[in-house]
Amino acid sequence: MSFPPRFLDDIRARASLADVISKRVKLTRKGREHVGLCPFHNEKSPSFTVNEDKGFYHCFGCGAHGDVISFVMNTQGSTFPEAVERLAAEAGLEVPVESPEERERSKLRAGLHDVMEMACRWYQQRLHDASGRDALDYLRGRSLDDKTISRFRLGYAPGSASGGDSLEAALRAQGVTPEQLLEAGLMRRPDDGRAPYPFFRDRVMFPIADRRGRVIAFGGRVMGEAKAAKYLNSPDTPLFDKGRTLYNAAAAREALQEHKGESGGDLVVVEGYMDVIALSRAGMNAAVAPLGTAMTEDHLGELWRLTPEPVLCFDGDTAGQRAAGRAAERALPVLRPGKSLRFAVLPTGEDPDSLIATEGPAAMRRIIESARPLSDLLWDMEAHARPVDTPERRADLEARLNGRVREIADESVQGHYRTMFKDRLWAAFRGRGGSRQNNQRGSGGRGPERGANGGGAVGNPGAHVLARTAPLRANRRRQQAILATLINQPVLRDEIDEVLAGFEFDPDLDNLRQQLQNLFSNDWGLDVASIKAHLEIGDSARVLEGVLSSQVYQLAPFARPDALLDDARRVIAEIFGRSVFERQKEELRDLGRSTTDEAKVFAAGREAVENDRRLADIDD
Ligand code: UTP
Ligand code: MN
Repeated sequence: MSFPPRFLDDIRARASLADVISKRVKLTRKGREHVGLCPFHNEKSPSFTVNEDKGFYHCFGCGAHGDVISFVMNTQGSTFPEAVERLAAEAGLEVPVESPEERERSKLRAGLHDVMEMACRWYQQRLHDASGRDALDYLRGRSLDDKTISRFRLGYAPGSASGGDSLEAALRAQGVTPEQLLEAGLMRRPDDGRAPYPFFRDRVMFPIADRRGRVIAFGGRVMGEAKAAKYLNSPDTPLFDKGRTLYNAAAAREALQEHKGESGGDLVVVEGYMDVIALSRAGMNAAVAPLGTAMTEDHLGELWRLTPEPVLCFDGDTAGQRAAGRAAERALPVLRPGKSLRFAVLPTGEDPDSLIATEGPAAMRRIIESARPLSDLLWDMEAHARPVDTPERRADLEARLNGRVREIADESVQGHYRTMFKDRLWAAFRGRGGSRQNNQRGSGGRGPERGANGGGAVGNPGAHVLARTAPLRANRRRQQAILATLINQPVLRDEIDEVLAGFEFDPDLDNLRQQLQNLFSNDWGLDVASIKAHLEIGDSARVLEGVLSSQVYQLAPFARPDALLDDARRVIAEIFGRSVFERQKEELRDLGRSTTDEAKVFAAGREAVENDRRLADIDD
């Protein structure tokens, strides 16, 4: 009796190795592994290890080694089919019975693999003969070298079937039947009964391989700008299931194994073929892409087979943000302990291919390194979605977060999300109280917001009146201090945002300010590292260096990354408050108001003026 390979994979994925083993062996957790006394030989100290991620056990004492199926076989003396059936029953999977037709089909499938391999070679050859000259030029024009072209086995599907040169003729000469060509999705039979024609015509070909590196489908790109479908993918076939296949999965798995544990060993998930290839050319081989479809649960399963926390890259624009949100939603029900997603945001309008081309691999690497966890993304999606300046709106935020948390099926993960969001809500609202005074004076209460990892900023309860004052002229050092504060304390963005408008910047700093505000307005809720990564791109790099310099920090300690949030908040408010103060003083005088009122305003303003003067002195 034989089982379809996909079914065996499902069993290995569904049956938790540690659960199965711990029914016989007492296991204790040790880092990423479980250890216990080996059931296959006598021992007093544990040398039997279970690695759930990799799906195998290993005994350093006796060398016993295997997966969940062999564990059941070896401990229960069962045969392979018995072990499979038992595990399937426990996992609630139905064992597929292989009928004669099915056996026939799996033979055919084996045949189809050969057919696809033949087609792949044939397309590769066309790229390098006369018919593929334009295609080769096109690829070179996109700066792909020969090594890359052959590593990704790129090819060319000619435009018209020309006698003996056609794919059909070539493959039939190698014993492939017309039915196989149809079944493999290489030929298509028109409805009107005319002869079958090639599915891919005049396209650059990207072979798509399965997890084991066997070609199972193709993507074909038109050269130049496309009117209609820029890319055409093979139809679903017995070999190819678009909804679970990832481009470049086999090579990515290899790269991850080589890089195990090192930095730069992240699995990066991008949108397109060319992005995967660009990343690989830039030294990041652990890159995959879904094939023009949104991320499915099956994709997530495939990703988690490769690595516990893949990094998903999205364009920084609204569409990218929405796509990231959808991926997050899709992931919630299937999260498990240790398995999650991270999210990296690309500069608006860029894909990894274009970013690497214009800014180089280092810029891309920084973006990947600044990826943020799923929990942060969810928090920001809700926390910045609507204002939270009243108790009712805050309760609404809490309800929305709870709704998200309830989507998580795994109890343990759900519990930890619940706790984390509760803590963040508490941190975000504590000490803010929705009162304006709090923001301006910053009583020195050290709220936990600083520790909340960039997730603490919520809404804008106390938008200042300060923004309405006349534009303030300030020296360069002070401008830099303001921007440094904003970069280092992004949770202050809503407060500072409003006042920035009333402040005059030198042109280069103004440019940086604009970029910063664009980043914020897209509402990614970026943290400090990713903000820096974005601003370090292009001309701003030098300007940024001046802003985040020790000279600025020395003279404006509140702008430091490690400054207390309340200090930063207060000083910023005071700097901008100065002109308000001056005006209020005059108004008070005109009105002849009571001295107690006046004293209050003075108290608030005096410090502001002093700080302002200190900064004004700085570069004189
Ligand atoms: P993009 O439109 O972002 O293209 O599609 P791209 O990857 O940047 O391609 P280049 O740089 O113009 O060559 C992203 C992915 O969506 C799928 C493909 O898998 C593509 O790589 N797609 C796109 C299609 O399947 N069909 C299309 O018509 C377009
Ligand atoms: Mn592109």
